[in-house]
Amino acid sequence: MRVINPDHPLIAHKLTYLRDERTDSPTFRRLAEELMTLLAYEATREVRVEPFEIRTPVAPTTGIKLSNPKPLVVPILRAGLGMLEGMVRLLPSAEVGFLGMHRDEETLVATTYANRLPEDLTDRQVYVLDPMLATGGSMVDAIRFLVQLGARDITAVTLLAAPEGIEHMRESFTDIDPPITLVTGAIDERLNEHGYIVPGLGDAGDRLYGVVN
Ligand code: PRP
Ligand code: URA
Repeated sequence: MRVINPDHPLIAHKLTYLRDERTDSPTFRRLAEELMTLLAYEATREVRVEPFEIRTPVAPTTGIKLSNPKPLVVPILRAGLGMLEGMVRLLPSAEVGFLGMHRDEETLVATTYANRLPEDLTDRQVYVLDPMLATGGSMVDAIRFLVQLGARDITAVTLLAAPEGIEHMRESFTDIDPPITLVTGAIDERLNEHGYIVPGLGDAGDRLYGVVN
C-alpha cells in the first residue's frame, strides 16, 4: 500500500480549524470540502487520461482529457458525504456510488446498511472518501466490497488517519495490484481506549450533521 500525506501549510491550517472543538457545523462542512479539494489534487495524480486533439485560436495542438470509463467516487456515509462536493468540484464528470456504514461504539465493528454502486467495477478507477481512518475496520470492509465487484485501482482519501488504521489497511491488502493508495491530510498519534483518533477531531459524522443515537 502507498501512503501519501501531503505536506502543505494550507492543509495543516485548515485541519487545525477543523479539529478545534469551537468550530461550528457550517464551518466544519466548509473546511471538510476545502480539504478534500486540496487532497484531490494529490489523489488524482494518476487519474487515467487520453490524448485529445484541439485547435487553439493560433494552432492545432494535442492536449489530454479524462478517459472512459470515468472515475467512480464512493463516499462512505455519513461522514464521507462531507467530502463529496470537494471531490466532484474537481472531477465533475465522475460518477458517484454510495456505501452506508456504521461502526458500533462498543465493539468498534462496522456494519454496512446501504449500498448503491454499479454492479461491475472492472477497469474502474475508484476513489473512496471517509474523513476518519481509526481502526480501519470501515475502510477495509468498504475496499473488500469494491474488490469483490471487480475494482483493482483504488485510492482511499481520509482527512485524518491513525497509525493503527494504516497498519490494518496495509496488512489487509497485500495482494492487490496496483497497490491501494491512501491519501490522508494527517497521520495522528494513536487511538484512545474508545477507538477515537488522538488528537483527532471527535466524531466526524456528528460534527458535520449532528448527533444521532
Ligand atoms: C466513522 C467514520 C468512519 C469510521 C471510522 O463513521 O466516518 O466511517 O467511523 O472508524 P474505523 O476506522 O474504526 O472503522 P461512523 O461509524 O461513526 O458513522 P457516521 O459517519 O454515520 O457518523
Ligand atoms: N470515527 C470518528 O468519527 N472519529 C474518530 O476519532 C474515530 C472514528
